[in-house]
Amino acid sequence: MQIKTFEEYQQAYDLSVKQPESFWAQIAENFNWNKKWDKILNWNFTDPNINWFVNAKLNITENCIDRHLTDKANNVAFYFEENEDGKPTQTITYQDLHDEVCKLANVLKEFGVKKGDRVCIYLPMIPQAVFALLACARIGAIHSVVFGGFSAQSIQDRINDSCCKVVLTSDGAYRGSKQIPMKSTVDEALQNCTSVEKVLVYKRTNEKINLVQGRDFDWETETKKQSKFCTPEIMDSEDPLFILYTSGSTGKPKGVVHTCGGYMVFTCYSFLNVFQYQPGQIYWCTADVGWITGHSYITYGPLLAGATSVLFEGLPNYPDAGRFWKITDKLKVNIFYTAPTAIRSLEAAGLDFVKPYDLSSLKVLGSVGEPINEEAWQWYHKHIGKEKCPIVDTWWQTETGGILISPLANITKTKPSYATLPLPGVQPLLVDDKGKEITGNGVEGNLCIKFPWPSIIRTTYGDHERCRQTYFATYPGLYFTGDGCKRDEDGYYRITGRVDDVINVSGHRIGTAEVESAINQCHDVVESAVVGYPHDIKGQGIYAYCIVPKSEKTHDELRKEILSIVSKIIGPIAKPDKIQIVNGLPKTRSGKIMRRILRKVAEGETTNLGDTSTLLDPAVVQEIVNGKL
Ligand code: WTA
Repeated sequence: MQIKTFEEYQQAYDLSVKQPESFWAQIAENFNWNKKWDKILNWNFTDPNINWFVNAKLNITENCIDRHLTDKANNVAFYFEENEDGKPTQTITYQDLHDEVCKLANVLKEFGVKKGDRVCIYLPMIPQAVFALLACARIGAIHSVVFGGFSAQSIQDRINDSCCKVVLTSDGAYRGSKQIPMKSTVDEALQNCTSVEKVLVYKRTNEKINLVQGRDFDWETETKKQSKFCTPEIMDSEDPLFILYTSGSTGKPKGVVHTCGGYMVFTCYSFLNVFQYQPGQIYWCTADVGWITGHSYITYGPLLAGATSVLFEGLPNYPDAGRFWKITDKLKVNIFYTAPTAIRSLEAAGLDFVKPYDLSSLKVLGSVGEPINEEAWQWYHKHIGKEKCPIVDTWWQTETGGILISPLANITKTKPSYATLPLPGVQPLLVDDKGKEITGNGVEGNLCIKFPWPSIIRTTYGDHERCRQTYFATYPGLYFTGDGCKRDEDGYYRITGRVDDVINVSGHRIGTAEVESAINQCHDVVESAVVGYPHDIKGQGIYAYCIVPKSEKTHDELRKEILSIVSKIIGPIAKPDKIQIVNGLPKTRSGKIMRRILRKVAEGETTNLGDTSTLLDPAVVQEIVNGKL
């Protein structure tokens, strides 16, 4: 499965385009299937309807765990580093993983969870989060992980959208110097969730929590009672594996659905090839299991490959900005995968936090989640990789399930801030706003993909039409990513950022419409408009313009209120960085807000604001410029 040279990459790529079915059949032979496929692929991008490994049967956990037990039972699957510095590293072998996952799967069964039922997971970055995903997959339940930074309201919306039967959570979470309540947030969410029958609570912080009799159960007590064996449920290749909610341009977050067979094949294949993982190496992805990176490249990809990973509960800057490097030194990490926002914040903290540590074990560095600016790329390359480690800048999305455009470590020549070339099986193209393909090199356009890869989104949960509209209708016959992209003279791809109303804040996707609708819940605000602006550390910050007609309150009081309402409705991650109180917004005569102008003002532009002649009231613009924060 592993490509070794650039020539091999070119051959594999060629074959994957000319004969995709035989290409993927060959890769899929490396997995355990209860029954092989009748056909590799059936697809159309119109409905859309995409089926990989048609009629094949499998269980992904058997491939992640059981098949390694013959020769790797005592190999380490995870080294767990706690939030608090100085605690001993915990070791979880593949055998331990098997036993823990089976016990938890048996608890779920006892709770009445069956194949196809949905289970919500709201947990900190502790081994139990990984056990939880796999326990669901073991019995064919569909997991829906909600990131720990989301509010009760967000949890509630997600649980209700997919009617989850069970919630797996903890009492609280440690995050840096803070202790965050988890169970009480779940309790609040569950006040309006009729589908939830049982809640399993892992004791992490030992804070006082409320246990509802008959509904809430203690994780340790329940798992202890169970057997270490649980027969894996046999799944169809196209049975859903999980739902993960993500933000888009409009409306509430949608539940992106991934299925078993294709996701398994692609996450493992991309993991092995992008990072060039070698047996015995130690790999560390710093993402949270609450995001797609934590699904594909902490849980499924590395485990499918039988890798040894680091699982980290804490933050890059706690107790100080040397924490990542301290752990890298301690555990002799070989492959390190993080987000540009973390790199920029550690760069800002200075080299004194890097110098004390021996980073010579590092062989490959990775970046994910947002465009990496050249300065951060150079710092990472020089001071962390010591100019010896290739940086794999991996471009992909929740919807793509796995990495689509990235260098293969030590194989593809890298170029700062370029995701470089597509993986075998991935056929990108650039189109103009009318959907016409832009050919040749040295061009820029909207990034689309013209052929399915195995881990492509299958549907949005409960609303297939929304999936079609969002990804397959803008440019008929193509999957539209929502990203802008350049292709340079070498044919290398550079992602320039979202071209829709999605902001990427510290690598987290936030829909402007969602933030606006939260702000509009604020009593004094009659209307708001939210845009992104360049932010030194976060990549993009959130800038909110709010119309407040008459109010007794000061602007500071209003801002506080707005921040607290956004925190309550979405979660602290969506809090605006800047809130400007205005009397009006720039609107066209038909009432449409001209975001282009608001974006320019937020970026610091004062004069060159483009054509304002179609505005209903051009004076509004000057007022906004004058009041800019
Ligand atoms: C952005 C995260 C530039 C992009 C895996 C995409 C990137 C969105 C990169 C998906 C990268 C991700 N370079 N931009 N290497 N990786 N993005 O769904 O805008 O949380 O559309 O998936 O992040 O974010 P998501």
